[in-house]
Amino acid sequence: MNYRHAYHAGNFADCFKHALLVALLDSLARKPAPYFVLDTHAGAGRYDLEAEAAQRTAEAETGVRRLLQRPAAALERYIGLVEQLGLYHGSPALIRAVLREGDRLACCELHHEDATTLRRHFHRDPQVDVHDRSGWEALAGLLPPREKRGLVFIDPPFEARDEFFRLMDGIRRGYGRFGHGLFAAWYPIKQMAAVRSFRASLTSSGIRDIVAVELHLRDTTGPDRLNGCGLVVINPPYRFRDQAHSIANAVLNGLGDHEPGAGVDVLRLVDE
Ligand SMILES: C[S@@+](CC[C@H](N)C(=O)[O-])C[C@H]1O[C@@H](n2cnc3c(N)ncnc32)[C@H](O)[C@@H]1O
Repeated sequence: MNYRHAYHAGNFADCFKHALLVALLDSLARKPAPYFVLDTHAGAGRYDLEAEAAQRTAEAETGVRRLLQRPAAALERYIGLVEQLGLYHGSPALIRAVLREGDRLACCELHHEDATTLRRHFHRDPQVDVHDRSGWEALAGLLPPREKRGLVFIDPPFEARDEFFRLMDGIRRGYGRFGHGLFAAWYPIKQMAAVRSFRASLTSSGIRDIVAVELHLRDTTGPDRLNGCGLVVINPPYRFRDQAHSIANAVLNGLGDHEPGAGVDVLRLVDE
């Protein structure tokens, strides 16, 4: 476990996934019944962009800091939260900020130090449980939730060679226990062969109603670089594709400096 999110907080991938995450949570809040969120790979929760780790990679400079300079209408809600919350908020803190009274969050983080930070952050918060256990196991252990509605957010570090395989397996197991839940899973785009193969396994999985939102920074000619990223969404809310298109385009345009091959795709992988 070498991956530490503190080096990447606020980068373009965070902006993309977090802006879409907020839109998905807002869709759950359209109904008054409480909802549950499982954040399988939570990270430390809050990141100081002035700290040594963030400064060393400076990824936030070409990510959230650019979006803050060029506010776009489609990102109003996300940017509003970033400004309101101060330190860069990772997924669990962002989710907590939008929970209503009665909604619940369970987050898993396997890195002991980040799990400790997270636990301290949510100390005595009756709406949040922090588990230092594997998020892959939690897809079986914590689902289905008693609320019977909610979001499963899966954001693995993609350190291991077989991470696409693990992600597909995790999605299958989670969906098997909570088939009417909303699922959102992040994936990197380095080379297209791996992405196409992941999309093909989703298409042939038997799971219904799947959309993939992809942001491409450039052509995938350098397969070792993060050339873009995607979020696969199962059981997306009404009109999500249009909203996702606007959000992903606003992120891409806000980042500026487009390279050849830059663009956004919103793909319907499987119909309802
Ligand atoms: C990409 S980061 C998560 C970022 C976070 N979701 C956010 O948006 O702010 C992935 C995290 O997963 C953690 N991790 C790695 N393997 C894990 C596992 N099996 N279960 C839970 N967490 C894991 C890593 O320590 C890392 O903090």
